[in-house]
Amino acid sequence: MSTPAKRHRALVEEIRRHDRAYYEEAAPTISDQDYDALYRELIDLEAAHPELRTADSPSQRVGGAPLAHFTTVAHAQPMQSLDNTYSATEMEEFVDRMQRTLEGQELTFVVEPKVDGVAVSLRYEHGKLVQGLTRGDGQRGDDITANLRTIRTLPLEIKSDAPIFEVRGEVYYPRVAFDKLNRQREAAGEAVFANPRNAAAGTLKQLDSRLVAKRPLAIVLYGPGELRGVECGTQSEFLKLVKKLGLPAPEKTWFCRDKAELLRAVEELDTERRGFAYATDGAVVKLDSWRLRAALGATSKAPRWAIAYKYSAEKAVTTLEGVTFQVGRTGAITPVAELKPVLLAGTVVKRATLHNFEEIKRKDIRLGDHVTIEKAGEIIPAVLGVVVEARTKAVRAIEPPAQCPACEHKLAWDGIFLRCPNRACPAQTQRKLGHFAARGAMDIDGMGESLIEQLVEADLVKDPADFYALTLEQLSGLERMAEKSAQNVVAGIVASKQQDLWRLIFGLGILHVGAGGARALAAHFHTLDKLAAAGVEELQNVRDVGEVMAESLVTWFGSEENRELIERLRKAGLNFEAQQAAAPVGGTSLEGKTFVLTGTLTEPRDVVADRIRAAGGKVASSVSKKTSYVVAGEHAGSKLEDAQRLGVAVLDEAGLAKLMAG
Ligand code: IVH
Repeated sequence: MSTPAKRHRALVEEIRRHDRAYYEEAAPTISDQDYDALYRELIDLEAAHPELRTADSPSQRVGGAPLAHFTTVAHAQPMQSLDNTYSATEMEEFVDRMQRTLEGQELTFVVEPKVDGVAVSLRYEHGKLVQGLTRGDGQRGDDITANLRTIRTLPLEIKSDAPIFEVRGEVYYPRVAFDKLNRQREAAGEAVFANPRNAAAGTLKQLDSRLVAKRPLAIVLYGPGELRGVECGTQSEFLKLVKKLGLPAPEKTWFCRDKAELLRAVEELDTERRGFAYATDGAVVKLDSWRLRAALGATSKAPRWAIAYKYSAEKAVTTLEGVTFQVGRTGAITPVAELKPVLLAGTVVKRATLHNFEEIKRKDIRLGDHVTIEKAGEIIPAVLGVVVEARTKAVRAIEPPAQCPACEHKLAWDGIFLRCPNRACPAQTQRKLGHFAARGAMDIDGMGESLIEQLVEADLVKDPADFYALTLEQLSGLERMAEKSAQNVVAGIVASKQQDLWRLIFGLGILHVGAGGARALAAHFHTLDKLAAAGVEELQNVRDVGEVMAESLVTWFGSEENRELIERLRKAGLNFEAQQAAAPVGGTSLEGKTFVLTGTLTEPRDVVADRIRAAGGKVASSVSKKTSYVVAGEHAGSKLEDAQRLGVAVLDEAGLAKLMAG
């Protein structure tokens, strides 16, 4: 018989499992709706039985009242930084130096990923998380306990009765979630984060932990702070202890006995790190023995027993030949660097984002400057800064344009953004329509950018509802449009009427509503009409929806023009209801099959996952014997190895497509 206590334990365990899948691997194993139902049940159960509500229940992760400011607190032990090097020779010299000082001792080392996040120190007393600090100046840091408590995969309690267990590590923004965040921000007309570290740092700086709770921050812990009542004498033992206590430890570490093994480990890490959940920028080589560490001591800045070996970042220097201005869907003007073409990370780069005018000013970037550009992972190339020594007198200031490059309307400042206020601006219209028809939104087959441009120019389409009024005649009357292609486009338009509700919500291009938000809204409200009627408060009850998004939705649905658009879409026969997963017509059902996605796919991972779910399949985050297929893209790492080890079938994307087509 299930007692409330038993049910509570089962719920807590299940929610934690889903949290790990969602936050650490960005590969959810259930729908938001099912997750919400579990969470709701937990809250109700705890309301009826308050004694079950422990400090480490997932219900305690929602964040609390905003702080006026952070309190600064002294570190029990200073948080040091590391010396770093880009040269393997220097790394070997560093090891030689240790060996000379510790003559006669047998040295062993641990190699760990250098996680590109934000350093924090956590303090557990008698097993309870009591404090979390930023590094600050190394002596004193900000108390960000409330923000850290929202990190789903961080235990608030550990099975240790040590009076003091301080553990240090990095808070990071999971890479997959970061890509998604930036796609959403871009789609929602907001500024993108330059890299995952900035996203993590920006989130941790929030004084309102309820907002932090809505972001999928994660953490990895690798080092000791103050310890009392903890038996441990080496780094390898410490990492084992971290894992045993259920704390998130580095994905992979190497135990090495000599320089040759160190070099091999550093090389192996460089290939494997691409499959890690966090961004890495190097390897940290640490002396294993704490007794010998103490003998080596530290300089004023860094310990003498560890060094960071940094992998050369994918950077290049080139000339800034010009700046063009791109008009976004919401009218925001983005300055784009036009560069002298340069080879970077295997591709020729001619353009890079300058983010906004504030950034240009801050970095003092001028036309004709030599600039450093960077491309990290899947991130769009960006201008990092100016090589000031190479500046000549011939450089010129970059002036913000006064007029919209597309419609010549006078531009206006909106915070750090310059915007075109003209709602009829053809560039904005085109971007809006492009967003609606895009693969991540309504996915209208055949409706690409150049066709949309033609349609806007011919005055055939002004808003999304106009797509559904297009005739075969109108389409085949366009230049370069064959009868057969026109038929395909019409078929694509008709098919899109049945798209799932979240795609329509996302496609409408409401400011601040990204794909994730749209999914959450569709799962919660089930119909567009219920969503349109919801007030700010009700909207804020939805997981992943904050005040800013809620207000934006209310404003959008409150506009006469938008209401008319909705009515025209309804008349055109678009689906306004959330659908249940069903097998696609003509395809095979994937009912009962579990998939794991890994590596870089040609489409965003959530799009592929959605397609699998729509066909009745399940998508899981880790490979087990029960996995039916692993779908592997480029640079697939440990999950592919797991599949091979367990004898699970591996498909590439074409293989998946074939399987789905039956
Ligand atoms: S050990 C006293 N291990 O990189 C030594 N640091 O550039 C403490 N970092 O300050 C640091 N991954 O914030 C260590 N596996 C790792 C790390 C790591 C990332 C950070 C840390 C450090 C900085 C130095």
